[in-house]
Amino acid sequence: MLEDTQLVWVRDAAEGYIQGRITEIGTKEFEVTPTDRKYPKRTCHFDDIHSSCEGPQDHDDNCELMLLNEATFLDNLKTRYYKDKIYTYVANILIAVNPYREIKELYAPDTIKKYNGRSLGELPPHVFAIADKAIRDMRVYKLSQSIIVSGESGAGKTESTKYLLKYLCYSHDSAGPIETKILDANPVLEAFGNAKTTRNNNSSRFGKFIEVHYDAKCQVVGGYISHYLLEKSRICTQSAEERNYHVFYMLLAGAPQQLRDKLSLGKPDDYRYLSGCTQYFANAKTEQLIPGSQKSKNHQQKGPLKDPIIDDYQHFHNLDKALGRLGLSDTEKLGIYSLVAAVLHLGNIAFEEIPDDVRGGCQVSEASEQSLTITSGLLGVDQTELRTALVSRVMQSKGGGFKGTVIMVPLKIYEASNARDALAKAIYSRLFDRIVGLINQSIPFQASNFYIGVLDIAGFEYFTVNSFEQFCINYCNEKLQKFFNDNILKNEQELYKKEGLNVPEITFTDNQDIIELIEAKSNGIFTLLDEESKLPKPSYSHFTAEVHKSWANHYRLGLPRSSRLKAHRTLRDEEGFLVRHFAGAVCYNTEQFIEKNNDALHASLEGLVQECDNPLLQTLFPSGSSTSVRGKLNFISVGSKFKTQLGELMEKLEQNGTNFIRCIKPNSKMIDRQFEGSLALAQLKCSGTISVLELMEHGYPSRVLFADLYSMYKSVLPPELVSLPARTFCEAMFQSLNLSAKDFKFGITKVFFRPGKFVEFDRIMRSDPENMLAIVAKVKKWLIRSRWVKSALGALCVIKLRNRIIYRNKCVLIAQRIARGFLARKQHRPRYQGIGKINKIRTNTLKTIEIASGLKMGRDEIVGGVNDIYRQIDDAIKKIKMNPRITQREMDSMYTVVMANMNKLTVDLNTKLKEQQQAEEQERLRKIQEALEAERAAKEAEEQRQREEIENKRLKAEMETRRKAAEAQRLRQEEEDRRAALALQEQLEKEAKDDAKYRQQLEQERRDHELALRLANESNGQVEDSPPVIRKSENVRAQQQALGKQKYDLSKWKYSELRDAINTSCDIELLEACRQEFHRRLKVYHAWKAKNRKRTTMDENERAPRSVMEAAFKQPPLVQPIQEIVTAQHRYFRIPFMRANAPDNTKRGLWYAHFDGQWIARQMELHADKPPILLVAGTDDMQMCELSLEETGLTRKRGAEILEHEFNREWERNGGKAYKNLGAKPNGPAAAAAMQKQQQ
Ligand SMILES: Nc1ncnc2c1ncn2[C@@H]1O[C@H](COP(=O)(O)OP(=O)(O)O)[C@@H](O)[C@H]1O
Ligand SMILES: [Mg+2]
Repeated sequence: MLEDTQLVWVRDAAEGYIQGRITEIGTKEFEVTPTDRKYPKRTCHFDDIHSSCEGPQDHDDNCELMLLNEATFLDNLKTRYYKDKIYTYVANILIAVNPYREIKELYAPDTIKKYNGRSLGELPPHVFAIADKAIRDMRVYKLSQSIIVSGESGAGKTESTKYLLKYLCYSHDSAGPIETKILDANPVLEAFGNAKTTRNNNSSRFGKFIEVHYDAKCQVVGGYISHYLLEKSRICTQSAEERNYHVFYMLLAGAPQQLRDKLSLGKPDDYRYLSGCTQYFANAKTEQLIPGSQKSKNHQQKGPLKDPIIDDYQHFHNLDKALGRLGLSDTEKLGIYSLVAAVLHLGNIAFEEIPDDVRGGCQVSEASEQSLTITSGLLGVDQTELRTALVSRVMQSKGGGFKGTVIMVPLKIYEASNARDALAKAIYSRLFDRIVGLINQSIPFQASNFYIGVLDIAGFEYFTVNSFEQFCINYCNEKLQKFFNDNILKNEQELYKKEGLNVPEITFTDNQDIIELIEAKSNGIFTLLDEESKLPKPSYSHFTAEVHKSWANHYRLGLPRSSRLKAHRTLRDEEGFLVRHFAGAVCYNTEQFIEKNNDALHASLEGLVQECDNPLLQTLFPSGSSTSVRGKLNFISVGSKFKTQLGELMEKLEQNGTNFIRCIKPNSKMIDRQFEGSLALAQLKCSGTISVLELMEHGYPSRVLFADLYSMYKSVLPPELVSLPARTFCEAMFQSLNLSAKDFKFGITKVFFRPGKFVEFDRIMRSDPENMLAIVAKVKKWLIRSRWVKSALGALCVIKLRNRIIYRNKCVLIAQRIARGFLARKQHRPRYQGIGKINKIRTNTLKTIEIASGLKMGRDEIVGGVNDIYRQIDDAIKKIKMNPRITQREMDSMYTVVMANMNKLTVDLNTKLKEQQQAEEQERLRKIQEALEAERAAKEAEEQRQREEIENKRLKAEMETRRKAAEAQRLRQEEEDRRAALALQEQLEKEAKDDAKYRQQLEQERRDHELALRLANESNGQVEDSPPVIRKSENVRAQQQALGKQKYDLSKWKYSELRDAINTSCDIELLEACRQEFHRRLKVYHAWKAKNRKRTTMDENERAPRSVMEAAFKQPPLVQPIQEIVTAQHRYFRIPFMRANAPDNTKRGLWYAHFDGQWIARQMELHADKPPILLVAGTDDMQMCELSLEETGLTRKRGAEILEHEFNREWERNGGKAYKNLGAKPNGPAAAAAMQKQQQ
């Protein structure tokens, strides 16, 4: 087992991520044992494992997380969610988790006041903060703003939009008449455009872009609502558990009796168009107020539907009042209600075959005669005309007979039913358009300077059966996603590059290919659909086949049978297609595409409603605007209309400043206090927020041009500052505000701020004069101070320089003196040594004289002889002194002559003394003998020392030669390998790219799978279990090939098994293979760790000095040289290193390494301020250098290699145990490893 104690996050299908510890390191995967025993052990690719902090995280801005990875991000959201903190930021993007319950005071008027004028980040994250930022950005940059609210159905977009509008309208004191009108629009829009779905009780079935317009003083001066794509199919049919638009139920539940009578209203189960679900939304009180006769059977049995914010009875009254406030009279309101009721009654008209009719026509059934009567009454059309228009179609003949003759073609039952539904849809959708129009008219509008637009449009949608509506919505979401990618990820990175900020690049999935697939002019799906509609006999299967033909082999388009969901696989190829959207694969059923793409009524129905008596209906279908007469070839399809609308919207968005809110749905049950990790994670990934988090690890979300900032301040600058260049001014400003250098960065034209520094940023961007003057004063003060400091520093530098010159001169003199002395000594050494030698004779003579003084006879003779020798000595010295070129031999011969004379004299003296001092003399001689003996011994010792020194020198020189040889060999090798390496590099890059693509596809597969799972859960469907592997990564294959070539396949071995083998095996080849595999895994592990490290601990925990690690990574990827195994050598190295973050005096340290063959055996770190760190392979591998000797490049580093005893001396001095049994033996490494085992 591996003893890695660090907590990690590991992917889990249900929770998203769970905590655990790494217990095994595999080739590309780690085994993780979850801390919570209820989860099983798992083996995951290391991309699915992330570092974890000890405690739970709670940060306002996810960019502040200690570990910037998706797991911690998710954990932060979850922890906060359970504390009712539903908002967080990722830089300036707001993430909002739907609480599904009211959080006290979260949106109270006091809260609005609190956020007014406060920078992002100053207060806890909130939609109000985003709204306020939009207002301030609009004011500062003089640019309209958009707030894009996105998320899947039920994630809380519409609610967030309401709060945003509330803030935008209320932020300046209380709401005025315009603001009230804008706010009043909401209940009306929701009544007509929202419905209960299985995903959301109050699902908006249309998209909207609400603009709040402001004048130069930032006062609200108007508003405008654009709407998109009302879902029309819902008017006639709904899936089980889903309802029609709220307004139908509101009318049935809440209309007063008088109105009910006028509209002949019954209860929900009376109407076919309400068959999906017939229950009302009501609370305990309103449930009492609705009479039983107005409730459906189902409602009476099951009771009302419940939702905290929906109440059909109450909302009818709210709607009525809101319509009144929009300026509608009672008659006008009645007109609207009549049309709503008419749609209900129209739906009840059924058809039956006419018995014996040869033309196959049909008639209105007996039972629905009453509905026909009521409908015609409400629509203001003649009953007979309505009947005729429903069961037949007018056609103008083209050829034969009279051109233009009108003929009546009878309709079959299903055609008549379709015509009826088409009429209902046309009436309701045009009514909706009209209501939006009325709202827009009612909002007074003065000339505006800028606006803030809030976009709330249906999020990405997928059901078991998906049709044209989902197709349009998902297309729209692709466009918005692209906008987000371009805006936040692409442009942002380009800007960093352009400004030279050196921010590492991140990759993200570009969805342009999906957009192309849908909207390409020549063969996009929309174009193919329109072309099909123009054919004489359009058919959905032909259209579907065309789509498959045009986009065969396109990754983004597939056949229904390639879907994960069983339900889709039963579709035939020409019944649908599968689009791999950014958020997951969706299978579209094309059966209705052609009808839904064409919203024209047939001519007789159109003529009927154009000529009706109902004034409101008349305005909905103005005559002369007939769509059917335009003919097939130039009709405007729903798809192309939407495409155009969307194009206009995108244009607006591109021109405005943008703000994003990403809504997250915490669970699919629509309940509070439940957080499904995997569901949230999928949404975070799809929304691109995780990529943003990655980017913001090094990115800068806020920025301003130097020039802009300067011109903002220009008007208040004193003359001495005006002359400053913009950049200098900005620099001065930042310095004066004491901002921390790592919080901002100067680009070429802009200054950038790190995430979470909005407060600082806003401080300089707030354009109120008082604040600006205060800042300018600071700048002035700082400028004066910094100039003074600069000149003082300048003077100091000059003084320092002068001292340095003087010092250097002195040093030069000393160096010269020493060198001269050395040379002179070297040149004259033989001579003065010769003089010394000869002079020594003189000292000897002193003794002779002394002895001679003891003579009784012949003393003068001896003295004379001595004097003679003195003369000879003087002569010789003089000769040596006079002749600088005198040779050693000459000097020696002079010495010998004098010495001979001296000897003669001594002999003479001796003979003379013989008798007299024989005993004494003998004693003395013995003493001299002794002294000579001692001298000889000393001399021998000295010679021994010198020999040793020479031997060491030789060893070092040998080492140096070896290094040089290795260097030369390496240069040769490098030259040879260069081409190979380049090729390899290219291949590796390609592989990496392939691998990234493969991982991206896997991610997409996973998303598709998750989507399918969710659908299956909802619909009790079935999902294909194992996601098919698209392709084996080249990388893996190459590795397997390489392994196949090797003798041992160790890929299946456990980490612990490898280590045991290293410690115990005697098979040298196996041992070396194990060591290689072992270190390769360590490398993988350390690479993962480096990628996942905490931001504050970057410099700690290095296994070798940075210089070594860096050298290893700078090297081109070399083909691994075949390593000699048997002759493995022990080599020792010493490297000095510096710790970047340590205090000055403790920065330096020494790193010692002992390599046994290619792999490290012992390693030691010496620091000034802490105890030495001694590590031994076999026990401390996780903390040791994992690189091979070759990779470290140590053998090529001059002066790095040291001798064995030098290493051992330091090792033992620092408390290391002796490392015996080195080298010599043939099975060195095994024995050494066994040794270590013993030591343990
Ligand atoms: N901020 C919020 N506070 C309380 N409940 C919320 C909040 N946001 C959403 N909800 C609940 O979630 C439901 C769905 O929200 P909605 O905004 O309609 O979703 P969407 O528009 O994304 O489909 C709402 O009806 C409401 O009950
Ligand atoms: Mg909505």
